[in-house]
Amino acid sequence: MSPFLTYAAVFLGTVGPAAVQALDNGLALTPQMGWNTWNRFGCDISEDTVVSAAKALVEHNLTAYGYEYIIMDDCWHADSRDPDTGAPRANTDRFPNGIKGVSDQVHALGLKIGIYSDAGKYTCGGKFGSLGFEEIDAKTYAEWEIDYLKYDNCFNEGQAGTPQISYDRYAKMTKALNATGRPILYSICNWGEDGPWNFAPTIANSWRISGDIMDTFDRYDERCPCTSVIDCKYAGYHCAMARIIDFAAPVLQKARKGAWNDMDIMEVGLGGMNYDEYVTHFSFWAMLKSPMLLGMDLTTMSNETLSIITNDAVIALNQDPWASPANRQWKRELPDGGNIQLWQGSLVDNQFVIALMNASPKEQTVDVEFFDAFFDQGKTYQQQPYRLFDLWQKDDKGKWGKDLGIFQGSIPNVKLGVHQTRVWLAKPAPSSSKRQEL
Ligand SMILES: *[C@@H]1O[C@H](CO)[C@@H](O)[C@H](O)[C@H]1NC(C)=O
Ligand SMILES: *[C@@H]1O[C@H](CO)[C@@H](O)[C@H](O)[C@H]1NC(C)=O
Ligand SMILES: *[C@@H]1O[C@H](CO)[C@@H](O)[C@H](O)[C@H]1NC(C)=O
Repeated sequence: MSPFLTYAAVFLGTVGPAAVQALDNGLALTPQMGWNTWNRFGCDISEDTVVSAAKALVEHNLTAYGYEYIIMDDCWHADSRDPDTGAPRANTDRFPNGIKGVSDQVHALGLKIGIYSDAGKYTCGGKFGSLGFEEIDAKTYAEWEIDYLKYDNCFNEGQAGTPQISYDRYAKMTKALNATGRPILYSICNWGEDGPWNFAPTIANSWRISGDIMDTFDRYDERCPCTSVIDCKYAGYHCAMARIIDFAAPVLQKARKGAWNDMDIMEVGLGGMNYDEYVTHFSFWAMLKSPMLLGMDLTTMSNETLSIITNDAVIALNQDPWASPANRQWKRELPDGGNIQLWQGSLVDNQFVIALMNASPKEQTVDVEFFDAFFDQGKTYQQQPYRLFDLWQKDDKGKWGKDLGIFQGSIPNVKLGVHQTRVWLAKPAPSSSKRQEL
């Protein structure tokens, strides 16, 4: 998306930047929301893991916030496929009622169920993969009334290296899922290999952009070696949260309704980061239009975690019908290490989100200039006044989004704690009323 297109779309006010072709299955018109087993449980999953998470999700009223998919990641499998039919089978010790039994219980709670497989000979956990078995696997998932498939990339037998080869391998499952007649959200997980933001929008609802996330703010790890996802030759894993934000920055505008950049399952609540860091994490996954998949143990999460994941004002940024990911306006490297970043995104009804992140080990005080925040929108937008709402403060009624009053030209003296992000909703406003203290 060029600045001009954003500018034009704002003024035309009719076609959103996302009004273009995507996979035609009617799903994920806003980024998918839910919970996935992997970050907390890895391969140690069972019917109980999945069903108790589903129950906890309902008990905590998370459906009211948009969370709806319960996704079983790797290792639900038996040791082998059915020797007679070739159909996939579940581990009967861990899933005594089969996947259909889990699916029924999750559906009875009013939720949707996801499963995991791999576009390779084996899954990453060493179970049987779907390469060469796409049709029977899709058909079986549909019989189990599955609503969502996460489709990984391990053991792909070298079928990667060009966008066409990767496209062909992943499109086989698109076709197989479509042939079942059941709408199944298709979430591909090939770690950004061969640039899925270019080849996947017409065959999948979302695509992972990088190696796996790690529950740390910005710790560098040799196992996530690339400095950019463009032409990254080894995506790896153990990618720190803030590195994934950097990875996403150049490919964000490839997202559209029904086709999203997946920044991976969230780490919020898993314990490796503090409150401000998880607020940063949650805010960016929302603003950049990543799927919002929780990864902590829902049955034991803290009140602090619950309060982060139920910030409905921030979730609304993710689910905004304009479907336009925020853009980074600037990134300033600091002499003592780390950086500060200014982000801005367009929302419906001529509203905007502005976010300032302190990715440095020290407190910072910054003036946010509207010249920078509204660089893409031009002079009128840079000069007009805005009413700002702080989306991580509550108003007197306990609702997220404290009204800070009217601002023109800049947001002066913004104080940021270490690894904190401030997120403001900006609505164009007449300049008569008074500004309050930040
Ligand atoms: C569930 O959340 C919705 C949306 O925020 C709210 O209106 C409702 O009161 C909540 N219900 C319970 C039982 O907490
Ligand atoms: C299958 O693809 C066709 C053509 O793109 C589309 O109209 C239909 O809705 C798809 N069906 C499912 C179940 O995804
Ligand atoms: C969490 O909040 C609930 C409801 O407000 C309260 O009953 C409970 O004691 C809190 N738990 C903790 C660990 O603070």
